[in-house]
Amino acid sequence: MSNIGSYNERIKNFDWSLSEKELEYKEGDIINIGWYCSDRICNMGKADKLALKWEGLGGKEKQYTFNDIRLASNTIGSHLRDLGIKNEDRVCIFLDRIPELYLSFLGILKIGAIAQPLFSAFGDESLHVRLENAETKAIITQRKHVGKVRRILEKLPYLTNIIIVDHDGKKPLKEKETVFSLEEATPVEEFNVFPTKAESPSVLHYTSGTTGQPKGVKHVHYSLISQYLTSKWVLDLQEDDIYWCTADPGWVTGTSYGIIGPWSLGITQCVLDTGFSADAWYKFIEKNKITMWYSAPTAIRSLMKAGDDTVKKYDLSCLRHLASVGEPLNAEAVIWGEKVFGLPFYDTYWQTETGSMMLTNFPEMKIKPGSMGKAFPGITAAIINAKTYEPIAESGIIGLIAFKPDWPAMMRTYWNNEKTYNEKFKNGWYLPGDKAKLDEDGYWWFVGRDDDVINTGGHLISPFEVESALLEHEAVAESAVVAKPDDVNMEVVKAFVVLKPGNNADDEMELNIMNFIRKKLSPLAMPQEIEYIKSLPKTRSGKIMRRILHAQEWGEEIGDTSTLEDEED
Ligand code: PRX
Repeated sequence: MSNIGSYNERIKNFDWSLSEKELEYKEGDIINIGWYCSDRICNMGKADKLALKWEGLGGKEKQYTFNDIRLASNTIGSHLRDLGIKNEDRVCIFLDRIPELYLSFLGILKIGAIAQPLFSAFGDESLHVRLENAETKAIITQRKHVGKVRRILEKLPYLTNIIIVDHDGKKPLKEKETVFSLEEATPVEEFNVFPTKAESPSVLHYTSGTTGQPKGVKHVHYSLISQYLTSKWVLDLQEDDIYWCTADPGWVTGTSYGIIGPWSLGITQCVLDTGFSADAWYKFIEKNKITMWYSAPTAIRSLMKAGDDTVKKYDLSCLRHLASVGEPLNAEAVIWGEKVFGLPFYDTYWQTETGSMMLTNFPEMKIKPGSMGKAFPGITAAIINAKTYEPIAESGIIGLIAFKPDWPAMMRTYWNNEKTYNEKFKNGWYLPGDKAKLDEDGYWWFVGRDDDVINTGGHLISPFEVESALLEHEAVAESAVVAKPDDVNMEVVKAFVVLKPGNNADDEMELNIMNFIRKKLSPLAMPQEIEYIKSLPKTRSGKIMRRILHAQEWGEEIGDTSTLEDEED
């Protein structure tokens, strides 16, 4: 029996107070995610239950019970307090997926500070803009990444503490750097968790839009109410489950469902901190007897590519429920799951801003492969007309996805950017920036994004950010960045580049530019192809018409460019 039981029954008279009751929370109470994910689980008699099973490079393993994560987060929280970090200060976590990442996250929340997790493969510039925007006070990092922080430190006057978790004493520390070793620190048994309330800020996740710098999505402790219940009803997490969320907590899936959801339910989860390979993943599932697996379409497509024989080498009968998020999950992937694991992948749709799942396929509901399913109970969702912003009642008509912004995990604002936040609302609806249509049975079908943002392997890349970085390359005069179709990642970054005179438009230059972006932004933002072009298509006022280049990549009709020239201004 699944946790949700009957979807149709659950949507009748649904109220979020159901989740509040299970979490023993009442309006006005203290609510702290760090406490809920560790202390409360211990208080419920599960102190000795395994919370985290971690595996790193070379098969290195570590295990933590709920009591261990309670103590570790107390210890980290207490250390941050000793350093002068206060509630609402932003503390960046810039770590690989090592245990300290997960434990720091809880520790930061326990002192009422705001956790700002950033993907550790980010280059100098990506790191810089995010720390600058958040006026981040402290950063928790490791030796291999501290060089990036050092190179941008001068430009970050608010950053007062650089905490290194794996310092081996071999090289001297530099300005503002201190060392913290979880293994050597004295565990802190008694700890005063900061009395955060529902609206106290908790997590700041950066996400990219078409224009402007990345936006800091501000979440609050009350988000737990959504994350707890969606984990329970959609991921169907049950007491004896062994759960694996493959997402990095640099992105929202890795925090909402890679930390908060499972641990607030007292579920054992596994983390694999190595690169992707089909064999490594299957081996991990087999070895840890993973029962519930939450992943992403690009990973699933990569597994499909590795072939069915690879699956057959392993005993994966432990699996009982699979789900996916981040990009369109094609019908073939769902059907393949059924064929090789005996289980379909349940697609879920949501985003950084929504903080928790919005549209999903539920256990016990008929899956229509390729569809995102239906709205989570308590979510008012509609397809709306792109001009009138009125809901479209008929099925089969493409419109904008829209939600009434009234669920607990909805973002509260974009950090220091209220204007852009307000622009996300029209006629009382929150617009996530995607297009979809409904079928006659009320199932949602994803159509595409409503902007130029590139979704590569589930990660949003702003063409603006890549274009800006390209302009800093000495040989680049102008550039336009668009998505290019890709079998596995669905989309990859492609750059059209106009070189400055005197530079050779050759392979060596292409590699040079690619590498430049990889280091400056990240491996994900690096163009997979650079096409040299003499001039870029522009509107009459000189704005680059990415749409023409995009259409060319996707083999779509470009239409009358003379009207486009006016339209895009
Ligand atoms: O375009 C949608 C796509 O990913 C965007 C959100 O990206 P991000 O904020 O990075 O969060 C990703 C993980 C929650 C959405 O606006 N997206 C997400 N899930 C799906 C999807 N597109 C199609 N189908 C999905 N299931």
